[in-house]
Amino acid sequence: MSIKKVLVIGAGQMGSGIAQVHAMAGIDVILHDIKEEFVQRGITTITKNLTRQVDKGKLTEKEKHLILKRIHPSTKLEQASEVDLVIEAAVENMEIKTKIFSELDEITSPTTILATNTSSLPITEIAAATNRPEKVIGMHFMNPVPVMKLVEVIRGLATTDEVFNTIEDLAKKVGKTPVEVNDFPGFVSNRILMPMINEAIFAVYEGVAEPKAIDEVMKLGMNHPMGPLTLADFIGLDTCLYIMETLHDGFGDDKYRPCPLLRKYVKAGWLGKKTGRGFYEYN
Ligand code: CAA
Repeated sequence: MSIKKVLVIGAGQMGSGIAQVHAMAGIDVILHDIKEEFVQRGITTITKNLTRQVDKGKLTEKEKHLILKRIHPSTKLEQASEVDLVIEAAVENMEIKTKIFSELDEITSPTTILATNTSSLPITEIAAATNRPEKVIGMHFMNPVPVMKLVEVIRGLATTDEVFNTIEDLAKKVGKTPVEVNDFPGFVSNRILMPMINEAIFAVYEGVAEPKAIDEVMKLGMNHPMGPLTLADFIGLDTCLYIMETLHDGFGDDKYRPCPLLRKYVKAGWLGKKTGRGFYEYN
Protein backbone atom coordinates (compact mmCIF):
# COMPACT_ATOMS: atom_id res chain seq x y z
CA MET A 1 0.00 0.00 0.00
CA SER A 2 1.37 3.42 -0.90
CA ILE A 3 0.82 6.33 1.47
CA LYS A 4 -0.18 9.57 -0.28
CA LYS A 5 -2.00 11.47 2.41
CA VAL A 6 -1.30 11.52 6.14
CA LEU A 7 -3.11 13.05 9.08
CA VAL A 8 -0.82 14.04 11.96
CA ILE A 9 -2.60 14.51 15.28
CA GLY A 10 -0.80 16.93 17.59
CA ALA A 11 1.14 19.95 16.31
CA GLY A 12 3.67 20.13 19.15
CA GLN A 13 7.41 19.38 18.99
CA MET A 14 6.95 15.86 17.66
CA GLY A 15 3.83 16.33 15.51
CA SER A 16 5.17 19.37 13.67
CA GLY A 17 8.45 17.56 12.97
CA ILE A 18 6.58 14.50 11.70
CA ALA A 19 4.43 16.72 9.44
CA GLN A 20 7.56 18.47 8.14
CA VAL A 21 9.43 15.32 7.12
CA HIS A 22 6.38 13.87 5.35
CA ALA A 23 5.70 17.09 3.44
CA MET A 24 9.40 17.23 2.49
CA ALA A 25 9.06 13.72 1.03
CA GLY A 26 6.20 14.88 -1.23
CA ILE A 27 3.35 13.52 0.91
CA ASP A 28 0.21 15.57 1.61
CA VAL A 29 -0.26 16.23 5.31
CA ILE A 30 -3.18 17.37 7.42
CA LEU A 31 -1.76 18.83 10.64
CA HIS A 32 -4.38 18.63 13.37
CA ASP A 33 -4.62 19.95 16.90
CA ILE A 34 -7.48 20.88 19.22
CA LYS A 35 -6.87 24.63 18.93
CA GLU A 36 -6.08 26.73 15.89
CA GLU A 37 -3.27 28.53 17.73
CA PHE A 38 -1.53 25.18 18.43
CA VAL A 39 -1.66 24.28 14.72
CA GLN A 40 -0.34 27.72 13.76
CA ARG A 41 2.50 27.41 16.27
CA GLY A 42 3.43 24.07 14.66
CA ILE A 43 3.39 25.59 11.18
CA THR A 44 5.53 28.51 12.41
CA THR A 45 8.12 26.03 13.73
CA ILE A 46 8.14 24.18 10.39
CA THR A 47 8.45 27.47 8.48
CA LYS A 48 11.43 28.50 10.66
CA ASN A 49 13.15 25.13 10.08
CA LEU A 50 12.65 25.39 6.32
CA THR A 51 13.81 29.00 6.22
CA ARG A 52 17.01 27.92 8.00
CA GLN A 53 17.52 25.29 5.27
CA VAL A 54 17.00 27.96 2.58
CA ASP A 55 19.52 30.25 4.30
CA LYS A 56 22.04 27.41 4.31
CA GLY A 57 21.43 26.80 0.59
CA LYS A 58 20.04 23.30 1.24
CA LEU A 59 16.57 24.19 -0.08
CA THR A 60 15.29 26.74 -2.59
CA GLU A 61 12.60 29.31 -1.76
CA LYS A 62 10.34 27.55 -4.29
CA GLU A 63 10.84 24.13 -2.64
CA LYS A 64 10.06 25.66 0.75
CA HIS A 65 6.86 27.11 -0.66
CA LEU A 66 5.81 23.75 -2.17
CA ILE A 67 6.51 21.89 1.09
CA LEU A 68 4.43 24.38 3.09
CA LYS A 69 1.61 24.09 0.54
CA ARG A 70 1.41 20.35 1.24
CA ILE A 71 0.61 20.99 4.92
CA HIS A 72 -3.08 21.63 5.61
CA PRO A 73 -4.10 22.92 9.04
CA SER A 74 -7.07 21.30 10.80
CA THR A 75 -8.98 21.47 14.05
CA LYS A 76 -11.78 19.12 12.94
CA LEU A 77 -11.12 15.40 12.83
CA GLU A 78 -13.77 14.81 10.13
CA GLN A 79 -11.13 15.37 7.45
CA ALA A 80 -9.60 12.09 8.61
CA SER A 81 -11.93 10.19 6.27
CA GLU A 82 -9.66 11.00 3.30
CA VAL A 83 -6.28 9.82 4.57
CA ASP A 84 -4.25 6.61 4.06
CA LEU A 85 -2.51 6.92 7.40
CA VAL A 86 -2.97 8.70 10.72
CA ILE A 87 0.07 9.33 12.92
CA GLU A 88 -1.03 10.27 16.41
CA ALA A 89 1.43 12.46 18.32
CA ALA A 90 -0.82 13.77 21.10
CA VAL A 91 0.15 13.84 24.78
CA GLU A 92 1.46 10.71 26.48
CA ASN A 93 -1.70 9.64 28.25
CA MET A 94 -3.39 6.29 27.72
CA GLU A 95 -6.91 7.62 28.31
CA ILE A 96 -6.49 10.40 25.73
CA LYS A 97 -4.84 8.09 23.20
CA THR A 98 -7.51 5.36 23.44
CA LYS A 99 -10.23 8.01 23.07
CA ILE A 100 -8.55 9.39 19.93
CA PHE A 101 -8.08 5.91 18.46
CA SER A 102 -11.66 4.85 19.04
CA GLU A 103 -12.84 8.09 17.41
CA LEU A 104 -10.46 7.59 14.47
CA ASP A 105 -11.75 4.05 14.05
CA GLU A 106 -15.23 5.47 13.44
CA ILE A 107 -14.26 8.36 11.16
CA THR A 108 -11.54 6.94 8.92
CA SER A 109 -11.92 4.58 5.96
CA PRO A 110 -11.57 0.90 6.98
CA THR A 111 -8.34 0.75 4.96
CA THR A 112 -6.65 3.60 6.87
CA ILE A 113 -3.63 2.59 8.97
CA LEU A 114 -3.58 4.07 12.48
CA ALA A 115 -0.08 4.70 13.86
CA THR A 116 0.93 6.13 17.22
CA ASN A 117 4.13 8.00 18.02
CA THR A 118 3.85 6.96 21.68
CA SER A 119 7.25 6.85 23.35
CA SER A 120 6.44 4.09 25.82
CA LEU A 121 2.77 3.01 25.99
CA PRO A 122 1.66 -0.48 24.86
CA ILE A 123 0.61 -0.57 21.18
CA THR A 124 -1.59 -3.62 21.79
CA GLU A 125 -3.64 -1.74 24.40
CA ILE A 126 -4.08 1.30 22.12
CA ALA A 127 -5.07 -1.06 19.27
CA ALA A 128 -7.70 -2.70 21.47
CA ALA A 129 -9.61 0.60 21.50
CA THR A 130 -10.37 0.05 17.79
CA ASN A 131 -12.11 -2.59 15.66
CA ARG A 132 -9.04 -2.84 13.45
CA PRO A 133 -6.13 -3.86 15.72
CA GLU A 134 -4.45 -5.43 12.67
CA LYS A 135 -4.03 -1.93 11.22
CA VAL A 136 -2.61 -0.28 14.36
CA ILE A 137 1.14 0.14 14.75
CA GLY A 138 3.77 2.12 16.67
CA MET A 139 5.88 4.59 14.70
CA HIS A 140 8.18 6.22 17.23
CA PHE A 141 10.15 9.20 15.91
CA MET A 142 12.97 10.88 17.86
CA ASN A 143 13.27 14.54 18.75
CA PRO A 144 14.19 16.70 16.81
CA VAL A 145 12.36 14.74 14.14
CA PRO A 146 13.88 16.51 11.09
CA VAL A 147 17.39 15.61 12.32
CA MET A 148 17.23 12.22 14.02
CA LYS A 149 17.48 9.19 11.73
CA LEU A 150 15.70 6.59 13.87
CA VAL A 151 12.09 5.43 13.75
CA GLU A 152 11.25 2.55 16.09
CA VAL A 153 8.52 0.48 14.45
CA ILE A 154 6.47 -1.54 16.91
CA ARG A 155 3.85 -4.14 16.07
CA GLY A 156 0.89 -4.71 18.32
CA LEU A 157 -0.17 -8.31 18.90
CA ALA A 158 -2.45 -8.27 15.82
CA THR A 159 -0.53 -5.98 13.41
CA THR A 160 -0.28 -7.58 9.94
CA ASP A 161 2.91 -7.95 7.90
CA GLU A 162 1.35 -5.77 5.17
CA VAL A 163 0.85 -2.88 7.60
CA PHE A 164 4.33 -3.36 9.05
CA ASN A 165 5.93 -3.34 5.57
CA THR A 166 3.98 -0.23 4.53
CA ILE A 167 5.21 1.68 7.58
CA GLU A 168 8.76 0.45 7.16
CA ASP A 169 8.75 1.64 3.51
CA LEU A 170 7.24 4.98 4.51
CA ALA A 171 9.88 5.57 7.19
CA LYS A 172 12.57 5.03 4.52
CA LYS A 173 10.75 7.33 2.11
CA VAL A 174 10.83 10.17 4.67
CA GLY A 175 14.59 9.69 5.06
CA LYS A 176 14.60 7.66 8.29
CA THR A 177 16.00 4.28 9.28
CA PRO A 178 13.26 2.04 10.66
CA VAL A 179 14.22 -0.43 13.38
CA GLU A 180 11.75 -3.11 14.46
CA VAL A 181 11.34 -3.58 18.19
CA ASN A 182 8.79 -5.50 20.24
CA ASP A 183 5.92 -4.15 22.28
CA PHE A 184 7.42 -3.75 25.77
CA PRO A 185 7.22 -0.64 27.99
CA GLY A 186 9.54 2.07 26.64
CA PHE A 187 10.41 -0.17 23.66
CA VAL A 188 14.23 -0.04 23.29
CA SER A 189 14.98 3.70 23.08
CA ASN A 190 13.32 4.87 26.27
CA ARG A 191 14.00 1.69 28.24
CA ILE A 192 17.67 2.54 27.96
CA LEU A 193 17.67 6.34 27.66
CA MET A 194 15.26 7.23 30.48
CA PRO A 195 16.93 5.24 33.29
CA MET A 196 20.17 7.01 32.32
CA ILE A 197 18.47 10.41 32.56
CA ASN A 198 16.78 9.37 35.84
CA GLU A 199 20.18 8.30 37.22
CA ALA A 200 21.65 11.67 36.25
CA ILE A 201 18.81 13.33 38.20
CA PHE A 202 19.57 11.06 41.21
CA ALA A 203 23.18 12.26 40.95
CA VAL A 204 21.96 15.87 41.33
CA TYR A 205 19.53 14.85 44.12
CA GLU A 206 22.27 13.10 46.10
CA GLY A 207 24.75 15.95 45.59
CA VAL A 208 27.22 13.94 43.51
CA ALA A 209 27.78 16.93 41.23
CA GLU A 210 26.14 20.04 39.79
CA PRO A 211 23.98 19.60 36.66
CA LYS A 212 26.58 21.32 34.47
CA ALA A 213 29.32 18.98 35.72
CA ILE A 214 27.18 15.88 35.12
CA ASP A 215 26.45 17.02 31.57
CA GLU A 216 30.13 17.79 30.93
CA VAL A 217 31.12 14.29 32.08
CA MET A 218 28.69 12.62 29.68
CA LYS A 219 29.46 14.96 26.79
CA LEU A 220 33.23 14.92 27.00
CA GLY A 221 33.64 11.45 28.49
CA MET A 222 31.08 9.53 26.45
CA ASN A 223 30.78 11.73 23.36
CA HIS A 224 27.05 12.28 23.87
CA PRO A 225 25.89 15.29 21.80
CA MET A 226 23.99 16.67 24.82
CA GLY A 227 24.40 15.88 28.52
CA PRO A 228 21.51 13.90 30.08
CA LEU A 229 20.11 16.89 32.01
CA THR A 230 20.18 19.19 28.98
CA LEU A 231 18.48 16.38 27.06
CA ALA A 232 15.86 15.94 29.80
CA ASP A 233 15.07 19.68 29.62
CA PHE A 234 14.86 19.39 25.83
CA ILE A 235 12.49 16.38 25.92
CA GLY A 236 10.37 17.88 28.74
CA LEU A 237 10.58 16.77 32.37
CA ASP A 238 6.85 15.88 32.41
CA THR A 239 7.44 13.48 29.51
CA CYS A 240 10.51 12.02 31.25
CA LEU A 241 8.48 11.44 34.43
CA TYR A 242 5.59 9.88 32.51
CA ILE A 243 7.93 7.47 30.74
CA MET A 244 9.68 6.51 34.01
CA GLU A 245 6.26 5.85 35.57
CA THR A 246 5.29 3.70 32.57
CA LEU A 247 8.51 1.68 32.98
CA HIS A 248 8.01 1.40 36.75
CA ASP A 249 4.37 0.28 36.41
CA GLY A 250 5.05 -1.95 33.42
CA PHE A 251 7.99 -3.90 34.88
CA GLY A 252 7.21 -3.52 38.58
CA ASP A 253 10.92 -3.20 39.26
CA ASP A 254 12.30 -0.56 41.61
CA LYS A 255 15.23 0.13 39.30
CA TYR A 256 12.78 2.26 37.30
CA ARG A 257 11.63 4.35 40.30
CA PRO A 258 11.43 8.01 39.23
CA CYS A 259 13.78 10.25 41.19
CA PRO A 260 11.90 12.38 43.79
CA LEU A 261 13.66 15.48 42.42
CA LEU A 262 12.14 14.82 38.99
CA ARG A 263 8.68 14.65 40.60
CA LYS A 264 9.38 17.86 42.51
CA TYR A 265 10.42 19.78 39.38
CA VAL A 266 7.33 18.60 37.49
CA LYS A 267 5.08 19.61 40.41
CA ALA A 268 6.75 23.05 40.42
CA GLY A 269 6.00 23.44 36.71
CA TRP A 270 9.71 23.35 35.88
CA LEU A 271 9.25 21.25 32.77
CA GLY A 272 12.45 22.21 30.97
CA LYS A 273 13.02 24.33 27.87
CA LYS A 274 9.32 24.68 27.05
CA THR A 275 8.51 26.43 30.34
CA GLY A 276 11.79 28.36 30.55
CA ARG A 277 13.12 26.41 33.52
CA GLY A 278 14.22 22.87 34.28
CA PHE A 279 17.73 21.89 35.30
CA TYR A 280 18.76 25.06 33.51
CA GLU A 281 17.10 28.42 32.84
CA TYR A 282 16.09 29.49 29.35
CA ASN A 283 15.05 32.90 28.04
N1 CAA B 1 14.61 21.16 14.69
C1 CAA B 1 15.08 21.02 13.42
N2 CAA B 1 16.39 20.99 13.14
C2 CAA B 1 17.26 21.17 14.15
C3 CAA B 1 16.83 21.34 15.48
C4 CAA B 1 15.44 21.33 15.73
N3 CAA B 1 14.94 21.46 16.98
N4 CAA B 1 17.92 21.48 16.27
C5 CAA B 1 18.99 21.39 15.46
N5 CAA B 1 18.61 21.20 14.19
C6 CAA B 1 19.47 21.02 13.00
C7 CAA B 1 20.29 22.24 12.69
O1 CAA B 1 19.56 23.13 11.84
C8 CAA B 1 21.47 21.65 11.97
O2 CAA B 1 21.09 21.34 10.65
P1 CAA B 1 22.14 21.24 9.41
O3 CAA B 1 23.01 20.06 9.69
O4 CAA B 1 21.25 21.04 8.23
O5 CAA B 1 22.91 22.53 9.41
C9 CAA B 1 21.69 20.31 12.71
O6 CAA B 1 20.42 20.00 13.33
C10 CAA B 1 22.76 20.40 13.79
O7 CAA B 1 22.38 21.46 14.68
P2 CAA B 1 23.38 22.40 15.46
O8 CAA B 1 24.69 22.46 14.72
O9 CAA B 1 22.71 23.67 15.77
O10 CAA B 1 23.54 21.74 16.87
P3 CAA B 1 24.12 20.35 17.32
O11 CAA B 1 25.20 19.85 16.42
O12 CAA B 1 24.38 20.52 18.75
O13 CAA B 1 22.89 19.34 17.13
C11 CAA B 1 21.10 18.15 18.06
C12 CAA B 1 21.68 19.51 17.76
C13 CAA B 1 20.88 17.38 16.76
C14 CAA B 1 19.77 18.34 18.75
C15 CAA B 1 22.13 17.35 18.96
O14 CAA B 1 22.42 18.11 20.09
C16 CAA B 1 21.62 16.00 19.38
O15 CAA B 1 21.70 15.02 18.64
N6 CAA B 1 21.11 15.92 20.64
C17 CAA B 1 20.55 14.67 21.18
C18 CAA B 1 19.17 14.48 20.67
C19 CAA B 1 18.56 13.22 21.19
O16 CAA B 1 19.13 12.44 21.92
N7 CAA B 1 17.31 13.01 20.79
C20 CAA B 1 16.52 11.90 21.26
C21 CAA B 1 15.64 12.40 22.35
S1 CAA B 1 14.72 11.09 23.02
C22 CAA B 1 13.39 10.99 22.06
O17 CAA B 1 13.11 11.75 21.20
C23 CAA B 1 12.54 9.84 22.38
C24 CAA B 1 11.46 10.08 23.32
O18 CAA B 1 10.47 9.39 23.19
C25 CAA B 1 11.55 10.97 24.47
